[in-house]
Amino acid sequence: MKSAIYPGTFDPMTYGHLDIIKRAANIFDEVIVSVLDNKEKTPLFSVDERVKILRDVTADIPNVKIESFGGLLSDYCSEKNIFVVVRGLRAVTDFEYELQMSQMNRKLSNNKLDTVYLNTSLKYSYLSSSSVKQIAQFNGDLSDFVPDFVAEMLIERLGKKNQ
Ligand code: PNS
Repeated sequence: MKSAIYPGTFDPMTYGHLDIIKRAANIFDEVIVSVLDNKEKTPLFSVDERVKILRDVTADIPNVKIESFGGLLSDYCSEKNIFVVVRGLRAVTDFEYELQMSQMNRKLSNNKLDTVYLNTSLKYSYLSSSSVKQIAQFNGDLSDFVPDFVAEMLIERLGKKNQ
């Protein structure tokens, strides 16, 4: 069975992430989407909330599992004995950061870990969790970017300040 890990912050997930998850699920037998639990950063949504959102939106994809992880991605992958990481590439601007991360992960894993990139579908190439949060602050229309229940959570948390 060929498994892959799709790690990220997912604060919150967007349709861009979902697009990558669905396409990865078509390629691999099992895809584990793993939410980074980073104690140093203060995300908008807790790990539990981000995991729950992802579980809700992927409930109909049987070979996708949602988990969280802390510490180094390479250690987490070793623990799970999975050595393929999936990442989405939106534009050339993502490339440098992604390349550095992939090479570092490869080094940290004694050359075991490989990263597979899926290019984000064109219609989501400009989409990011940070832009979604900015739009929510001003009660903008999020319907093309995140599921309705996520838009409601975003507006509830960020948008009210401006009303
Ligand atoms: O969605 P993001 O924020 O682009 O995801 C980044 C993520 C979670 C994949 C990356 O920050 C990560 O793997 N963090 C864990 C720490 C780690 O392993 N760092 C070493 C690689 S440079």
